[in-house]
Amino acid sequence: MSTANDSPHPESRFDADWLALREGADADARSPALTARAARWLEARGRTPVACVDLGSGSGSNPRFLAPRLPGPQAWCLVDHDALLLERAVRGGALLRDAAGQPVALRSECRDLAALAPDAFAGVDLVCASALMDLVGAAWLERLAAACSRAGAAALFSLSVDGEWSFRRGPHQDEDPGDQLAREAFNAHQRRDKGVGGALGPDAHAHLAASLRAVGYRVHVAPSPWQLHMDRPREAALAAALLEGWCDAALAQMPGEALRLRAWHARRREALRDPAFRMCVGHVDLFACPGGERAGTEPDA
Ligand SMILES: C[S@@+](CC[C@H](N)C(=O)[O-])C[C@H]1O[C@@H](n2cnc3c(N)ncnc32)[C@H](O)[C@@H]1O
Repeated sequence: MSTANDSPHPESRFDADWLALREGADADARSPALTARAARWLEARGRTPVACVDLGSGSGSNPRFLAPRLPGPQAWCLVDHDALLLERAVRGGALLRDAAGQPVALRSECRDLAALAPDAFAGVDLVCASALMDLVGAAWLERLAAACSRAGAAALFSLSVDGEWSFRRGPHQDEDPGDQLAREAFNAHQRRDKGVGGALGPDAHAHLAASLRAVGYRVHVAPSPWQLHMDRPREAALAAALLEGWCDAALAQMPGEALRLRAWHARRREALRDPAFRMCVGHVDLFACPGGERAGTEPDA
């Protein structure tokens, strides 16, 4: 592993337990259609080994999901600025297998993604990331699209937040008077600078699609929301952790609204005790490949 020993920006640190908690919901939410598109594109490209780069790899959730669904042989490079998370990813990587059941080659680079060179992806076939794009700024997304294009690589960017939440009890929508305030405060917090320009938060996926279209890529998008059911213990645990995180971020963003936000949090925490309660948290997946400028973004269910 290369270790540049960069100290992560405080607003872009992620706890290994949090990443582990979300991994199952992420896997359920990801668009199978876009994963299949990526696999078909790589098969048609026919390069061997298939070179994949995973940006903001954390503890390696993305290669764990993708490797068995993509053709092999595969060689992965995992990039993150958190050396401890990367160590976990590399340890777990020994178990990775490609779609044909063959072991996957894996290395890591510990560095800050802020400095993205134009030729960063030379020789790469697939540039991917999960749960990263909402943390970065517009200029970086444009440089990312340009670097993908320069390499002629496909791009698979999964699980970018879209800023939407909704709640249900059984078949009925469940609205709370504090939801809108909490969502606005949280989404504003998402737009804070996290070390790679002012983060676009829920607007990132649209800017990313536009940036890739601007370099002549064909872009496919699909919703990939978390659907969390309180009668499923792991999903309920994720929902509880999520609610804490939303409340902390909302309070940091709007301290003057602490009374209303805390009251909202208490009501929503109580709601999580109801086995019929559900949370839907919006995300978007995107696959893009060279070849064919399109007027709009193609939806891909
Ligand atoms: C939300 S986590 C997602 C991790 C992993 N892709 C997953 O889906 O579980 C975002 C990851 O991006 C990394 N990250 C954020 N900003 C970064 C930067 N400027 N340079 C390198 N890594 C960064 C964090 O350390 C973290 O591992």
